[in-house]
Amino acid sequence: RWSIDLKETSWTGSAEARAAADTLLRGGLVAIPTETVYGLAADATNSLACASIYEAKGRPQFNPLICHIDSIETAQQHGAFDPVADRLAETFWPGPLTLVVPKKTTSPVCDLATAGLDTIALRVPAGPVMRFMARISRRPLAAPSANRSGRISPTTAEHVIADLEPALDFLIDTGPCPVGVESTIVSVVDGTARLLRVGGVEREALVEALGGRPLLEGPTTNDTAPAAPGMMTSHYAPDALVVLNVDRIDPGDVVLAFGPTLPENSSLASRLLNLSPTGNLKEAAANLFGYLRQLDSGQSTAIKVQKIPENGLGEAINDRLRRAAAPR
Ligand code: TXA
Ligand code: MG
Repeated sequence: RWSIDLKETSWTGSAEARAAADTLLRGGLVAIPTETVYGLAADATNSLACASIYEAKGRPQFNPLICHIDSIETAQQHGAFDPVADRLAETFWPGPLTLVVPKKTTSPVCDLATAGLDTIALRVPAGPVMRFMARISRRPLAAPSANRSGRISPTTAEHVIADLEPALDFLIDTGPCPVGVESTIVSVVDGTARLLRVGGVEREALVEALGGRPLLEGPTTNDTAPAAPGMMTSHYAPDALVVLNVDRIDPGDVVLAFGPTLPENSSLASRLLNLSPTGNLKEAAANLFGYLRQLDSGQSTAIKVQKIPENGLGEAINDRLRRAAAPR
């Protein structure tokens, strides 16, 4: 395992920084400091790498992740910025503000990073190391706070190591984070600014930047109430009816399978996608949102889902599927 201590030395152009970028490009997990807290970063365009984040954090849900980029221009490749979002970005970036905006269909950020939502959380951090890593890897970096789920956010490399050491492929240590609380999260959708989480940018500063436009409240979003964004939005669920724990297929069924042993009569299915033919939960998590979308495309047929184990990432996968199957 690699670890660079950047407290003493300059980080730009170092061989170690290049090695950290290569780790990201290979799908690895790199702990990277920002001005707020340390992030557990992965290539946001790589769904297997993003599955590793959820696995490492031990989150029972797929909470959407913040994508870190190096500039407003890069942010605009991924999200649709209206004049309100532009104004907030210009005022507070680089800095501790995350903007949730509609995700562009042309963005290569994977569905798992955004937990299947049609919006994307973007941030240009003031912490130069995260910006630098996004730039030299030429990838948006999905990074939640580098703590295990339910624990407090890490503001030193020691905190990160204590929580996540076995999961890390690389760690960049620049000492304590200067802000020490997470970024403020504001969603700007349909011209309306909404405060989702208070953090490093003060409410007063937001109100001032909005210059008389309203700042609506919540729903609040945080680690302990991770479901908020997902549960509030109708597009989070597929249009098709979802039926769980199916072990037998009827002719014409649309099937989401898991593992080497398919449900009985699977050959009669009209469509079948297997989340992981080998029964690998990380692979299944990486495929989940994309496969749901594919099976949901314009059909009114129910999606029948094979039983998936509840251990490890299976818990988050099943949480997502149970919500998709809930009556609505
Ligand atoms: O300061 C920070 O924001 C740190 C550093 C690493 O950037 N990151 C951080 O990430 O705190 P995390 O995963 O612990 O919190 C991200 C929050 C979650 O509460 C999530 O629900 C929310 O952002 N979020 C992400 N995408 C969203 C979306 N599309 N809509 C609503 N909320 C979203
Ligand atoms: Mg967190």
